[in-house]
Amino acid sequence: MSHHQDWNPRSDESLNQAVTTYDQMRAECPVAYSDYLQWTVFRHADIAAILQDHDTFSNCVSRHVSVPNGMDPPEHTIYRDLINPYFSEQAVQAFAPTCQDIAEHYAGLISDCEEVDFMAKFAWPVAVAMQCAFLGWSDQHIDPLTAWVKRNQQATLVRDRAELADCAAEFEVIVSGVIERHQNKDDVTARLLQERVDGELLTRSQLISILRNWAVGEIGTMAAAMGILVQFLTENPDIQHHIRQDQTKIPEVIEEILRLQGPLVTNRRKTTCPVTLAGRDIPADSTLTLNWVSANRDETVFEQADQFRWNRDHKQNLMYGAGIHYCPGAGLARMELKAVIMALLNASSDMHSAGETTPAHYPASGYATLPIHMLK
Ligand code: HEM
Repeated sequence: MSHHQDWNPRSDESLNQAVTTYDQMRAECPVAYSDYLQWTVFRHADIAAILQDHDTFSNCVSRHVSVPNGMDPPEHTIYRDLINPYFSEQAVQAFAPTCQDIAEHYAGLISDCEEVDFMAKFAWPVAVAMQCAFLGWSDQHIDPLTAWVKRNQQATLVRDRAELADCAAEFEVIVSGVIERHQNKDDVTARLLQERVDGELLTRSQLISILRNWAVGEIGTMAAAMGILVQFLTENPDIQHHIRQDQTKIPEVIEEILRLQGPLVTNRRKTTCPVTLAGRDIPADSTLTLNWVSANRDETVFEQADQFRWNRDHKQNLMYGAGIHYCPGAGLARMELKAVIMALLNASSDMHSAGETTPAHYPASGYATLPIHMLK
């Protein structure tokens, strides 16, 4: 069935001024149809309700194996229980010193540079280096994985099926090598190789799905988050100055900046029966695109939602989702981002803009390029 197009997610305006476009859509057409994304949901209340009703709004949105995000209960529960221990507070704490070292190393490389593209020289390599270290993969994977993520993002944007299939095949080759080398080691990858469900080892496609998710799935999100944080701190020197004086405020500042401009734009659901959302009748088996960036700027939930505020209540912040699919990596991501901001502040006396930024385009968020000057 063909629907009227409520908006065009691929227009220049939607791509280049994404946050403003989402604010406008939330006000004018909070559940909006487009051929590209089907039904996009912009309001916090609608998204929050969808997250709690996984019978009506299923996560089985694609025919590809996706552990555990593409699963519904009871299968989801089994695999979610399997992965949760890898992200425990204890595991995150044990990994923190390594992240600190990585962040300090890369901050040292860009400190005192007249003009440096923060995305290319810091955000991307640090995001990849941290995920490689988390999995126990050697540094030689950093460049190929960075190239892989960019290629895959581009193919996702233009929906190039052949190119996406090629990317998937390329990732399988990378993982096959990794699996071979990690058989007898003692790290996250080696532990995954030993995991069993109902007495059976994970299948190859399950393993590849998990490793793909942990190695590269969130690298784009992590790099975007670093860019968004640093751009905001260069534009708001008073806030940058404040956290230089009082580093205990860093976690709060990270949460609030990323509420204002989310690093992950969307996730999807599929309707299992006909539903009505914001007055729109949506048939069964339709794809819904939940827009996290919009939900977190909803003025009915966050007072002066488009403003940075100290001491804001983040209970309703949906940056890491909610309900049974709530991000298991939230604690890990928070620790990594805190290590990044601490290292950047410690390596500089001031960070400021060194020119025009260019926006990243959906499905990415944040900046494609971000020229900054780090004063020693
Ligand atoms: C700033 C960084 C991150 C953000 C904003 C983020 C956000 C999210 C969100 C919104 C969801 C819910 C998806 C849904 O409801 O369909 C999610 C799920 C997930 N995230 Fe993250 N994430 C981040 C980092 C990470 C990292 C570093 C990892 C692992 C290495 C990770 C692993 C996962 C997994 C495995 C799921 C699926 C959980 C499930 O379906 O039960 N995330 N994330």
